[in-house]
Amino acid sequence: MPEFIGQLPKREPAWNAISSVQSFRRYTQGIHFDCGNNSRLTLSILAPNLIRVRFSPNGELTPRRSWAVNLPDAEWNNVNFDIQETDEQIIIETDKIKVCVQRDPCKVMCFDQAGNPFAHDTDLGIGFRKGEISSWKEITAEERFYGFGERSQLLNQRGKCLTNWTTDCLDYTMLTDEMYQAIPFFMSLRPNLGYGLFFNTTFWSQFDVGATQLNTLQLKTQDSELDYYIIYGPEPAKILETYTQLTGRMPLPPRWALGYHQCRWSYDSETEVRELVKQLRDRRIPCDVIHLDIDYMQGFRVFTWNKQRFPNPKKLIEELSQQGIKVVNIIDPGVKFDPEADYQVCDRGLEQDYFIRRADGQVFHGYVWPDRAVFPDFMRADVREWWGNLQHNLTDVGVAGIWNDMNEPALNNQPFGDLEGDKITFPMDASSGGGDDKTTWRETHNLYGMNMARASYEGLQKLRSDKRSFVLTRSGFAGVQRYSAVWTGDNHSKWEYLEMSLPMLCNLGLSGVAFVGADIGGFAGDASPELFARWMQLGMLYPLMRGHSMIGTKRHEPWEFGQEVEDICRKYIELRYQLLPYFYTLFWQAATKGEPILRPLLYHYPNDVKTYELYDQVLIGSSIMAAPIYRPGVENRMVYLPEGTWYDWWSRKSYQGSQHILVDAPLEKMPLFIRAGAIIPLVPVMQYAEELPVNEMRLLVAPGKREFTLYEDDGLTFAYRDGMNSTRQYRVDLAGNQVVVEVGERKGNWNPDERKVIVEVIGKGEQEFIDDGKGRQLVYQ
Ligand code: GLC
Repeated sequence: MPEFIGQLPKREPAWNAISSVQSFRRYTQGIHFDCGNNSRLTLSILAPNLIRVRFSPNGELTPRRSWAVNLPDAEWNNVNFDIQETDEQIIIETDKIKVCVQRDPCKVMCFDQAGNPFAHDTDLGIGFRKGEISSWKEITAEERFYGFGERSQLLNQRGKCLTNWTTDCLDYTMLTDEMYQAIPFFMSLRPNLGYGLFFNTTFWSQFDVGATQLNTLQLKTQDSELDYYIIYGPEPAKILETYTQLTGRMPLPPRWALGYHQCRWSYDSETEVRELVKQLRDRRIPCDVIHLDIDYMQGFRVFTWNKQRFPNPKKLIEELSQQGIKVVNIIDPGVKFDPEADYQVCDRGLEQDYFIRRADGQVFHGYVWPDRAVFPDFMRADVREWWGNLQHNLTDVGVAGIWNDMNEPALNNQPFGDLEGDKITFPMDASSGGGDDKTTWRETHNLYGMNMARASYEGLQKLRSDKRSFVLTRSGFAGVQRYSAVWTGDNHSKWEYLEMSLPMLCNLGLSGVAFVGADIGGFAGDASPELFARWMQLGMLYPLMRGHSMIGTKRHEPWEFGQEVEDICRKYIELRYQLLPYFYTLFWQAATKGEPILRPLLYHYPNDVKTYELYDQVLIGSSIMAAPIYRPGVENRMVYLPEGTWYDWWSRKSYQGSQHILVDAPLEKMPLFIRAGAIIPLVPVMQYAEELPVNEMRLLVAPGKREFTLYEDDGLTFAYRDGMNSTRQYRVDLAGNQVVVEVGERKGNWNPDERKVIVEVIGKGEQEFIDDGKGRQLVYQ
């Protein structure tokens, strides 16, 4: 870690404060303010609920690079806004909010239509000093804070100081600050008022959320200008919809990626992989994907195969594909520095000058798995293209996805694993990026993982142009969802990590990254049978459902823990497969609206303060709520039911909400609840996502008044983009004692095979029909 990062000098130099507004000038999208001493503040009104705030102490707003932001200012539709002036303020009003700029001292203040302030500068407003710029905002007593990317703590982050700097945080604990992902975005919530703030800086940055001063939020960056977006909700869903309009959304993954993934460091030979798949299929544990960790390579050289242990990967993958298994291979950024060995990746990279250089012009070397390694500059488009194409070494033999690891980047200054070695990053003044984007590592460090994932994603789109692929990355920045799924890195086989996984994944989801998971069973250490069973139950809720374990640990496949645990694992993996149409629809919601798949309760109950600290219950979509067990020896637990009626998934018993209940949860049971008005599609168990066409679908309906749009397509290709998809609206309503289910007409050009549909209304019975795509009404007495 370079010494100026995160270490403040003993006596901090004073801040130069922004002074007063001297004059202002309207332009199409907003207002420029002259704030004296050549400094400039600009407010751009990009949408009625989206304001961009920029401040430059020297008046120069540098052209911002579009690394995180997917929709630049010029691409937002023009918005109507009014400007009024008083002696004290300049007031800008949109259909949704009011932004007031106080003249002296200059400060930015926002108000909702009821006049409640939010994102309101303190009297200090904006300050700057050598190498740093900062802004301070007031926080009210009621406000809670969520998002902030990957955070190893519980849900609400108020009271913490949170740094945005991607780091290999091996052995992270609840106290860890810098994580694999750095996403400088958060959401603030209080009853009837929620807003998001995206800090548009890739440099080292930090949020002090009332840690130093109880009621003050400080944003700080080592950038040369201040640039942030305020996104008014008031609901979390609206904030995320706008935030993901700004930073992009997840492309729809192949449906098989929603199935169960089995991984270990490492299944390191063809024989072992074949045996693994045989066990899965013989034991009827559904599975779609096997991950190959670093040992499939020749001496950890990326884009090679070890010829002794994997003599014929093409044949292996063909055989696996006949059994419905896809293969995903790990790729690390460190390229073995191997100039004498005819290793094309190293030779070509050196020849073409693709690797990061130090400021003195020397190619930078660090140490990772392959020992001495050099590192591609993924900020450059030509390097990304080269890297993306190199993946043909894997896709040519049938690999269907790429797992990007160690891309924070993780490296040492001594041979890897050497206890004397220190973790390092590239020198801050190393050059990075090409053309107009050429800059230094200081600005691009946080972007390394995301741009590596981008190279993988774009490469796979070319190499497997007719099929959707899967990309997984450990590190990323705001916008990573455009290219890749994310997992939470190296957790431990300990109860605390099981507990922490839910709020971690929820906060990632509230940061625009919906396709997320934690290693089921825990990566480091040995899981006990009880821990493993509980983890598989909870893992069934993870958008990315992958079991993984570290080299040297006890094996963690579901059958390693005895019959009882194997049966529990099978039951919950089967439930995941039964729910695939539901999950797939949630992925479509994420791809089209930026909605999280796994949601904390506050997402749907933002005015119920009882949900604000509730980190150990989650919603999958809007209709299923889980209250998992994450402690040993626990066989019952308290569950909070928000307002409305709830139904127990297992017994179908109904409960009135707005209360806590005590529920039984013996080892084989994870408490699950269905919300009134839920419409949940279920299909028969399959051993892999594409095993059979769906010729039978059960709709589980809970009496109430709600609707659900089911999304379907071929699950594999890009034809859905050309209209080969189908949506179906279902609506449930109450009429006296009757429950009425309206089945809408199927819309779109994709037609499933003929299918039987069974509609089960809880407490009322079932009706079934052969689906011809037409609308119909079902009445339940
Ligand atoms: C890192 C990854 C882990 C992987 C290991 C070996 O620790 O986080 O998932 O198994 O490297 O590649």
